[in-house]
Amino acid sequence: MDQPKGCKIAGKPVLVWRTRSGEVCSFDDRCVHKRMPLSEGRILEDGVLECPYHGFCYDAEGNCQRIPSQLDVPIPTKAKLRPIPLVEQDGLVWVWPGDPSMVGHVEPPCTPEIANADWDTHMFDPLHVKANYVLLIENLIDITHFYPLHEGNIGDIEQSKIPVQVVEETLWGVRTVKTVREVKNYHQPPFMRDWWGVPKVDRWHTHHMLGPGLTRVELRCAPPGKLGQVEHEFGYVIHHAHTPVDGTSHDWRLWVSTRSGTRSASDASKSCTQHISETFPAVMEEDLWALERQQQMFAYPDDDYSEVFLRSDQALICARKIIVELEKGNRLNKTVLIQQVA
Ligand code: FES
Ligand SMILES: [Fe+2]
Repeated sequence: MDQPKGCKIAGKPVLVWRTRSGEVCSFDDRCVHKRMPLSEGRILEDGVLECPYHGFCYDAEGNCQRIPSQLDVPIPTKAKLRPIPLVEQDGLVWVWPGDPSMVGHVEPPCTPEIANADWDTHMFDPLHVKANYVLLIENLIDITHFYPLHEGNIGDIEQSKIPVQVVEETLWGVRTVKTVREVKNYHQPPFMRDWWGVPKVDRWHTHHMLGPGLTRVELRCAPPGKLGQVEHEFGYVIHHAHTPVDGTSHDWRLWVSTRSGTRSASDASKSCTQHISETFPAVMEEDLWALERQQQMFAYPDDDYSEVFLRSDQALICARKIIVELEKGNRLNKTVLIQQVA
């Protein structure tokens, strides 16, 4: 991130860059002169960010330090970028693009596996999804869609029959909701068999909405009777970041982590993470396809349409309530993820 990066987050223009001193900083992406996106600019030798239009130069505090066309007069005191609160943690950068006074006393959720040598992590290419971010959260915490949407790769109808436990808890100052699916003697779907090679397992699978910006998936499997014995367990952690761009689109970033040193069962030339990274995009494409079609149907007025709720929708209902409360400003947090930092 040596070069400035621009993103649209929750309808706001956000500029991020890593300064010479190694700090990441974030500001409104509009040059104070004539709204030029500063993320189109460049970092000069002396470390300032130069606007590509008339050359205003800004330092890491967002102060304009130089105006090339009038070096002989004082810089206007208003020539200062609006800062955006930011936290860098566990290899990720979190920003709060809303009203700074509403940030509150909360921290972003931890993502310990992403920047940790004990784990082998791959970041997938980010996807721009033409659907509201809440649709992705709902997709993630209700995996009864694995049949039929992901049948033949990570899903089957048997999975939809696994009982679901829903857990609500407050973590890092934010209400969260988690589904837990635990099953014995489960026949793994094809992708899992390819990755780990054990066709029948005991399995513990969670999907945890840690805030409006992040959902954490943890899958732990072991030969029957061996779950809980660390030396027999295998599985993954997937962090899904769902960053709203506007009301009808979001950016979806995923990191998959497996224990370092784990090899693929069907291709020992690859690490397990590498094998997942090559095959999992087919699953993501299926979700992308479904989410965008769902979003298109919101263009029609509801009239007498209303959704039907099933047992498996309990976590989804809970997630919606949490998000509605957050959007009302009752407990806002810095939970919008914008960038992985290498
Ligand atoms: S718009 Fe940036 S210097 Fe004019
Ligand atoms: Fe899915």
